[in-house]
Amino acid sequence: MTKVLIATVKPFAPEAVEGIRKVCLDAGYEVLLLEKYTDQNELVKAVVDVDALIIRSDKVTREVIEAGNNLKIVVRAGAGYDNVDLAAATEKNIVVMNTPGQNSDAVAELAIGMMVFQARNKFNGSSGTELNGKTLGIHAFGNVGQRVAKIAKGFGMKVFAFDPFIADDKIEDHGVKALQSVEELYASCQYISVHIPANKETSKSLGYKLLSGMPQGATLVNTARKEVIDEDGLMEMFKNREDFSYLSDIAPDCATDIMQKYESRAFFTPKKMGAQTAEANINAGIAAAIQIKNFIEKGDTTFQVN
Ligand code: 3PG
Repeated sequence: MTKVLIATVKPFAPEAVEGIRKVCLDAGYEVLLLEKYTDQNELVKAVVDVDALIIRSDKVTREVIEAGNNLKIVVRAGAGYDNVDLAAATEKNIVVMNTPGQNSDAVAELAIGMMVFQARNKFNGSSGTELNGKTLGIHAFGNVGQRVAKIAKGFGMKVFAFDPFIADDKIEDHGVKALQSVEELYASCQYISVHIPANKETSKSLGYKLLSGMPQGATLVNTARKEVIDEDGLMEMFKNREDFSYLSDIAPDCATDIMQKYESRAFFTPKKMGAQTAEANINAGIAAAIQIKNFIEKGDTTFQVN
């Protein structure tokens, strides 16, 4: 019998687990659940005889891949798959997929929510500012970036985007002005919302030179990955630009330092929160289960990333 393991340090909403279970049980599969594990060895042990694995930001290392004697497919229920050792999976002919777009509304709402929170001085009772009429730059115009643009336009923001992988006319179809370089984007916008993936090219790519080009009232919102920020440059920005705020869905390594010195200009979620809604969990979790079923039954490799 095909065995599907759901392994989530940060559990899905119960309705999502139920939905995944239903898809799998209807297909005749067995479902195993490993939630809130604290030791990576628990995942290594749990994966030994399963055929398929559903994860979130869980680390699927070479050790996990090698332990999966029957493992055929890993589906990251979400967008970013920087937590999976793709080379190790490919060497063992294991298919790795993500579920693009399924949790994008949740992440986009968080990005905008963090902007409002900061603009209103974290609701501390003092007079703040509005998003209406402000400039917003969307750095990478994929599923999340497009949804952020849609909500921001509702707020009356002037929205710009830079994405070297999407043609200008496709960006402009969304009523968003396409800019030609990342430098131009950061220099044009008070708010920047980051949606680039974490990989070799993007690691530490947002540094002082780029950030210091932002106009007065510079607010950087990062719901992507902490790894894309050059933290020395970030500290430099906090030091040299009293108008600069940084809001991030998951704290940077230098969070303690920032909070000690510049608390009013920073906000970090206690754990990655972007996709922490019942709807996002249901969408991404069930999509993952359906992708596994389609792969096992029909060899369908849509959304394969390795
Ligand atoms: C993603 O890449 O889809 C988001 O970062 C969500 O990650 P999570 O499932 O660990 O919350």
